[in-house]
Amino acid sequence: MPKPDMTRGPIRVAPSLLSCRFEIMAEEIAAVAEAGADWLHFDVMDGHFVPNISVGPLGVEAARRASPELVLDVHLMISEPDKYLEAFAGAGADILTVHVETSPDIRRTLGRIRDLGVCAGVTLNPGTPLEAVETVLGEVDMVLVMSVNPGFSGQSFIPASLGRIRALRERIGREGLPALLEVDGGVKPGNAAEIREAGADILAAGSAVYGAGDYAEAIRAIRGGG
Ligand code: DX5
Ligand code: ZN
Repeated sequence: MPKPDMTRGPIRVAPSLLSCRFEIMAEEIAAVAEAGADWLHFDVMDGHFVPNISVGPLGVEAARRASPELVLDVHLMISEPDKYLEAFAGAGADILTVHVETSPDIRRTLGRIRDLGVCAGVTLNPGTPLEAVETVLGEVDMVLVMSVNPGFSGQSFIPASLGRIRALRERIGREGLPALLEVDGGVKPGNAAEIREAGADILAAGSAVYGAGDYAEAIRAIRGGG
């Protein structure tokens, strides 16, 4: 499996499988692929770092089998992520994103992800100061800005996230770093334009895609650009 294309370019939309109908996950993946999804966003929750439990490596493996082509963007909302990196890499993740709040040595965790041949992402909760990730911006393929408190789909976008996206975009640009910027939580057709304008490269969206009657229309509206 070649590494995903992590160069900046057109806006990418990553439907979040947390909002899909799990009993027919393969069909739900095929449906968003057909509808123009660029990536698949997969949320892993442990009921410890976040107040909800989703699925683990077996779920990622199933998503991988259902779609060998789409970039599998795995968002780890789990305590002690170091214990599970190998399992998620082996399950077929293309990108593993860890919360800065969960690792005692985030630089080491990110290095381990890269050593596994997987793209490394770092993310932070809305309440975590941006300084927490600034020192590793040069060592990641992606920064994920959480625009809701992680744990559940269907929450409202926290407006202060726009300033955080702008600040990170500015910093990444100023330092000439390759990191992509993903935004996750409460992304809808109605606010996608301002999120893109703030500097997002990838928009993850759960309920706005899987809750829509027409997946293609929702993805198009979130991606924008006519
Ligand atoms: C929230 C998850 C999100 C979630 C987004 O903790 O990380 O990826 O699926 O769902 P929406 O787009 O409905 O806010
Ligand atoms: Zn997520």
